[in-house]
Amino acid sequence: MELKVGSESDLRTWEEVTLVYSAALKQISTKIDILIDEFQQVHRYNPIEHTKGRLKSPESIVKKLKRHGYEATIENMVRYVNDIAGFRIICSFASDIYKIAEMVSNQSDIKVIAVKDYITEPKETGYRSYHMVIAVPVYLSDKIIDARIELQIRTVAMDFWASLEHKIRYKFEGRAPEHIGTELKECARMVSELDLRMMELNNEIQKMIVNDEEKDADGHNA
Ligand code: GTP
Ligand code: MG
Repeated sequence: MELKVGSESDLRTWEEVTLVYSAALKQISTKIDILIDEFQQVHRYNPIEHTKGRLKSPESIVKKLKRHGYEATIENMVRYVNDIAGFRIICSFASDIYKIAEMVSNQSDIKVIAVKDYITEPKETGYRSYHMVIAVPVYLSDKIIDARIELQIRTVAMDFWASLEHKIRYKFEGRAPEHIGTELKECARMVSELDLRMMELNNEIQKMIVNDEEKDADGHNA
């Protein structure tokens, strides 16, 4: 018997929502683990520092729906909340972010629904990160459901900034004193410069490693 093609709108209960979106997180987590294993085995370095997946709490989902003027129903959750499943990939260098985004997009069972590049265009707050909304297939006993995940890809430095800014925003409920906002923006600029300099340094080191290896190889051939 062939599996039916279901959709997120088939989800009726909170239990079904949890089941499907946790399964989606397991899918993406395994896919990224496989890429990490491959990088470790085949390439000289692994671009991924760490990853983190989370299911949005029912309270946060309800808060978000209310904020956008929607009634708190399962139907609305699944329709309007893109980040019930959230997955974050933290990389060493800014250039790795685009490589990873491409690898994810290239997987034929992943659908890319939306991309927001807050690296080339940072948010007003100074926030930088690469966001994708993707859908991954979840295989149930009688159907396949493509479930959405909000993927955030950022460097360690961008993540450091975002976590402090998030804490401050939470603490002041979005109304932080002006000098704190200004200082945060200045820090965001420094983070961006640090990312660039670290990336350039790394590129230089990588070139030296390749040159040394070529020299070694020539030595052996001689
Ligand atoms: P929400 O911001 O979640 O309502 O969704 P959206 O559709 O506006 O998407 P957006 O890309 O703006 O943000 C998605 C997620 O990115 C947020 O839930 C945060 O986790 C993160 N994010 C966006 N902007 C900021 C920011 O200024 N600071 C921090 N720390 N995180 C941010
Ligand atoms: Mg937002």
